[in-house]
Amino acid sequence: MNGLKLLSTGRALPRQAFSNDSMRQFVDTSDEWIASRTGINQRYFCGEDESTTSLAIDAARMALERSGMAPDDIGCVLVATSSGEYAMPSTACLVHAALGLPEDIPAMDVGAACAGFLFAMEAARGLLVTSGRRCALIIGAEQMSSVLDMSDRNTCVLFGDGAGAAIFELVPDAEYTSIQGVRGSDAIRVGGPCRAQKMAMDGQAVFRFAVSALPQCVNDLLQKASMTTDDVDWVICHQANVRIIDSSIRRLKMPDEKFYKNLDRYANTSAASIPIVLDEMNEKGLLKPNQRIILVGFGAGLTWAGAMLRI
Ligand code: COA
Repeated sequence: MNGLKLLSTGRALPRQAFSNDSMRQFVDTSDEWIASRTGINQRYFCGEDESTTSLAIDAARMALERSGMAPDDIGCVLVATSSGEYAMPSTACLVHAALGLPEDIPAMDVGAACAGFLFAMEAARGLLVTSGRRCALIIGAEQMSSVLDMSDRNTCVLFGDGAGAAIFELVPDAEYTSIQGVRGSDAIRVGGPCRAQKMAMDGQAVFRFAVSALPQCVNDLLQKASMTTDDVDWVICHQANVRIIDSSIRRLKMPDEKFYKNLDRYANTSAASIPIVLDEMNEKGLLKPNQRIILVGFGAGLTWAGAMLRI
């Protein structure tokens, strides 16, 4: 089966971090409430000269440079985002221009919220088959601060801005398993008439969805590939809430050490969280050749998706 092989990663964060205490300038909250309910200690928000576009370009440039590939090797550019700077052009087209990528390739945004990076990986597998080029540039980039209601303490403390990028190569006969799905619901939503409304969320409904979708995704991937949790080196999941991850660890009866967590420093960066984790783990030398990793995303839609691959 055609599978994706991870060649390189990159990430970009806004300059300014906001501690939990500093969120009190917006809403009635406390470090104790946020940390104990979510595991988040701080998040980054874009300044005036930063945006989904600038973060996506910086992360993508880093991943491309580290891959050793030429722009002409890139067969598609997909940006998973729910907070693109423009309705059009897509963020992907702006990345395409900034990096000087070939004209005859598709570049588009993928809207699947926090599962977007995984949906984009699946789309890239299909696009590369017909492209004649080897690699996909896949980015998760979000300026969640642009869609947050900064007067709603139920949501504004949970999210952050950031971008992660990866270059994947399409490899015939690679070991690769993937699944995707949707439980249609507007439990998290942004927009409405004239795209005017900021985020609204039924937090407890989303929590219930997440604690079932994450472990189910891992189990379904393992079942599809006829493997067990012992065969997996890392589970890299969407970083929404540490209680969601810890509940899944208990349900799966897996060792805590196989789950990488960094949401304490970034909060929920939606589609960017998985590639940001990948880049941090790469930087720390935690991702080693031949390891088998599981990626799991879940979020608004309600969407869920997973992929298991050897790196
Ligand atoms: N600071 C202080 N108090 C807050 C608060 C904040 N930032 N946000 C909400 N509260 C209050 C509420 O007003 C409510 O008060 P009330 O009981 O007086 O009405 C209370 O805290 C709710 O507490 P509780 O029900 O115990 O919260 P919770 O344990 O359900 O946690 C979430 C709330 C949002 C953290 C949790 O439901 C969650 O993580 N959901 C998933 C959200 C998510 O991850 N979304 C993205 C998925 S990709």
